Amino acid sequence: MSRRRQIYEGKAKILYEGPEPGTLIQYFKDDATAFNAQKKGTISGKGVLNNRISEHVFTLLGTIGVPTHFIRRLNMREQLIRQVEIIPIEVVVRNVAAGSLSKRLGIEEGTQLPRTIIEYYYKDDALGDPLIADEHIACFGWASQEEMNDIADMAVRVNDFLCGLFAAIGIRLVDFKLEFGRIWENDYARVILADEISPDGCRLWDMQTNEKLDKDRFRRDLGGEAEAYQEVARRLGLLPEGENSVLDLDQHRQKRGK
Ligand code: TMP
Repeated sequence: MSRRRQIYEGKAKILYEGPEPGTLIQYFKDDATAFNAQKKGTISGKGVLNNRISEHVFTLLGTIGVPTHFIRRLNMREQLIRQVEIIPIEVVVRNVAAGSLSKRLGIEEGTQLPRTIIEYYYKDDALGDPLIADEHIACFGWASQEEMNDIADMAVRVNDFLCGLFAAIGIRLVDFKLEFGRIWENDYARVILADEISPDGCRLWDMQTNEKLDKDRFRRDLGGEAEAYQEVARRLGLLPEGENSVLDLDQHRQKRGK
C-alpha cells in the first residue's frame, strides 16, 4: 500500500490525507490517555470499536438532520470524513453530576441535574483544556455568536437523541464531549459535528447496576475497559451476539503487522 500523508496525530486518532480534496481519513488507535496524557495506556480493540460506534452514532445523527463530518467507514479502523477547520472548543453536555463537575462544585457523583448543562473548555493541551465562558469565546474570537448558537442548538439535539438511544439499551448518558468544525462553501462557513462519539468521550452507566461502561474504567484503574467498550457496541447491535469476530480478525491482522 502506498504511504499516505499524515496530516495530524492526536492522542487517540490519526488523520491522513483523503482521496479527494476536502476529505481526510480518520484512523482510530487503541491508545488511551487521561488527565491530559499524564496517564497513558492501550485498550485492546478500542480503535475498532470506537470506529464502529462513532460510525453508528454519526449516521443516526445525520438521519435526524444534524450535519456531521462523517462520510463512510472504510475499514475496521478508518473512516472517510470531511476536512473541517476545528473550532478550538470542547463542548461538554451533562445530564448527571460526575467527573470534574462533581469535583469542582462538590456535588455528589450520580446526582441527577435538574436541567442539562452545557460547558465549554478551551481546547489547548498546554493549558490543560481550561473551562471557559461564552465571554472568552467572543472576546478571543474562537467562534462567532452565530456559530455558538448553532453549536448550542446541535449539542441539545445530540443530547436528546443520544439519551433516548442509550436509554433504549439500558444505559444512562451521564455526560459527553463534542467537537465542532467549520466547512467553507464559497465565502460562507458552516458548523458541523466533528471528531467522534464513543465511550472515550462519554460517561455511560448501566441503568440497573450503575456500572461504568466508558473510559472512566481506564481513568480510575477499574479494569475491564475493553469489555466495557465491547458491551456498549454489543448493546448497540454492532457486535453479533456472542461473537467477537471483528475484534479477533483485527488482533490477527495486528499480529501480522498489517
Ligand atoms: P469531565 O467531567 O472530566 O470534565 O469530563 C466530562 C466529559 O467529557 C466526560 O464524558 C469525558 C469527556 N472528556 C473528553 O472527552 N475529553 C477530555 O479531555 C475530558 C477532560 C473529558
